[in-house]
Amino acid sequence: MNFKELCLARQSCRLYKNEPVPQNKLDYIKECVRLAPSAVNLQPWRFLVIDDKERLQQIHECYKREWIKSAPTIVICLKNETEAWTRQCDGHNHADIDIAIATEHLCLAATEQGLGTCWVCNFDVDKLMATGLIPNGYTPSVLVPLGLPADEQRPKTRKPLDVVWG
Ligand SMILES: Cc1cc2nc3c(=O)[nH]c(=O)nc-3n(C[C@H](O)[C@H](O)[C@H](O)COP(=O)(O)O)c2cc1C
Repeated sequence: MNFKELCLARQSCRLYKNEPVPQNKLDYIKECVRLAPSAVNLQPWRFLVIDDKERLQQIHECYKREWIKSAPTIVICLKNETEAWTRQCDGHNHADIDIAIATEHLCLAATEQGLGTCWVCNFDVDKLMATGLIPNGYTPSVLVPLGLPADEQRPKTRKPLDVVWG
């Protein structure tokens, strides 16, 4: 797969097969995430791999959509704003940008390995913070369900090139 083919293949997967994520694929994805760039190389992130029934149920309570229950694994992508670079001139904290890059590394690496993912941000942050799963100093930014996809490839709906560029 070249990069454009990878970009086309990555899509939001909202149905997964009832099979675990192979360990070698998970290890590969972890390394690709680790290699992501970040402002001043501060790497203000952590990633929690959740694949046991009890903790998955806790996450399902924070994002009440039936489809996410089909995912055998959910990665919690955490940011640490204190560790992240803050631009001096306007005080802009870059943790969100950093975590977004690393999260997309995760999604693209998973796609290359034949796995499905979906960015999920519409979860209940307070509820997830209250589960006891989140280490001190970190805030959950994105949930990424991960597993063998059980959906079909869909065409991309995107703005035209001349609107996006220019
Ligand atoms: C920052 C961000 C947050 C998202 N949050 C959700 C979400 O909470 N639930 C969901 O089902 N999809 C979510 N998505 C997936 C988008 O709906 C999806 O990426 C978009 O419709 C394009 O479709 P595609 O990923 O299949 O190309 C999110 C995507 C991004 C980038």
